[in-house]
Amino acid sequence: MGIEAASVEETYQQMRTKLSAVVPDFELKLKAELVYKINKLKRERGAIILGHNYMEPALFHTVPDVVGDSLELSRKAATTQCDPIIFCGVRFMAETAKILNPTRTVLLPAKVAGCSLAESITADDVRKLRQTYPGVPIVTYINTYAEVKAECDICCTSGNAAKVVESLKSDTIIFLPDEYLAKNVAHETGKKIFVAGRGGALKPAASGYEMIGWEGRCEVHEKFSVEDIENVRKQFPDVCVLAHPECSPEVIQASDFSSSTSYMSRFVKEHPKKQFLILTECSMADNIIADNPQSDVLRLCSIRCPHMNEITLEDTLRSLTENVQKIELPEDLMNRARRSLERMLEVQ
Ligand code: 13P
Ligand code: SF4
Repeated sequence: MGIEAASVEETYQQMRTKLSAVVPDFELKLKAELVYKINKLKRERGAIILGHNYMEPALFHTVPDVVGDSLELSRKAATTQCDPIIFCGVRFMAETAKILNPTRTVLLPAKVAGCSLAESITADDVRKLRQTYPGVPIVTYINTYAEVKAECDICCTSGNAAKVVESLKSDTIIFLPDEYLAKNVAHETGKKIFVAGRGGALKPAASGYEMIGWEGRCEVHEKFSVEDIENVRKQFPDVCVLAHPECSPEVIQASDFSSSTSYMSRFVKEHPKKQFLILTECSMADNIIADNPQSDVLRLCSIRCPHMNEITLEDTLRSLTENVQKIELPEDLMNRARRSLERMLEVQ
């Protein structure tokens, strides 16, 4: 992937062919020069650009060598020989790349690029949970910082969460920090869930609970409601609703399909005749529309992840020219966090 073009004009023409349905022409003209410079410098430096599915369309379709969901990008980051790795995604993703491939320079184009889920829990919270529930295995969603991964037993992503939980063969499992993802996984795997959390409910769960969750939420996906779905279904009765598993259990129950961002994209590609409503970060719906111009794709477009939105073409070029922002983590911390990630990668 990434545009192969011999000039700015050729870059612009390729961008126009792919993106004219979702990006205004004046923006394509402005961005073509940046895209051309990034791709040229990337090749000269032997760098690789990894792009999450939530990148804005003029970046997503032009500069990454590999695009995907958290699991696909982690696998690619772990094995790439290229150096540096420019991570067009949020900080926890760039940290994961560094942990899995520590001899590479990993650059994050934005200074912060946080995540409301990653902010919702600390290493100390995990240590307290372990004291409260001794011997209970702890799964952490990959949307956490290295300090939290280092205290947990295994990671998971939205693409493999149920598989990871089932692989543990334990009567009780702690699943952190996304309350909604935990509840959706509990539903999928037939487990009874209790939500712990800092708000005082940190006590041993009454017997009978098989999963213990946390009170973290994705600030983007928690905004979708069953009412949104009902309103769209009234107008478009045949619409097929795809929702990311960070949405509430009520939204997931009212939808037709739920999985990781890449599985959602693939689902659209595999069903060209259907009409879709995409309930996730709105740039991803634009990316799907650009890839499937023949499909009828609706989206609720007011919901952009502010953290993913920090990653711009301007800053990606700056990352490549100035080698910023380098992800640096203590070796011991990386070693401990790597165990949780590698255990996840071993789950098929
Ligand atoms: P995916 O792993 O499904 O791409 O999800 C990452 C994410 O942050 C969704 O909000
Ligand atoms: Fe985090 Fe939600 Fe943004 Fe994904 S969409 S990076 S979970 S805040």
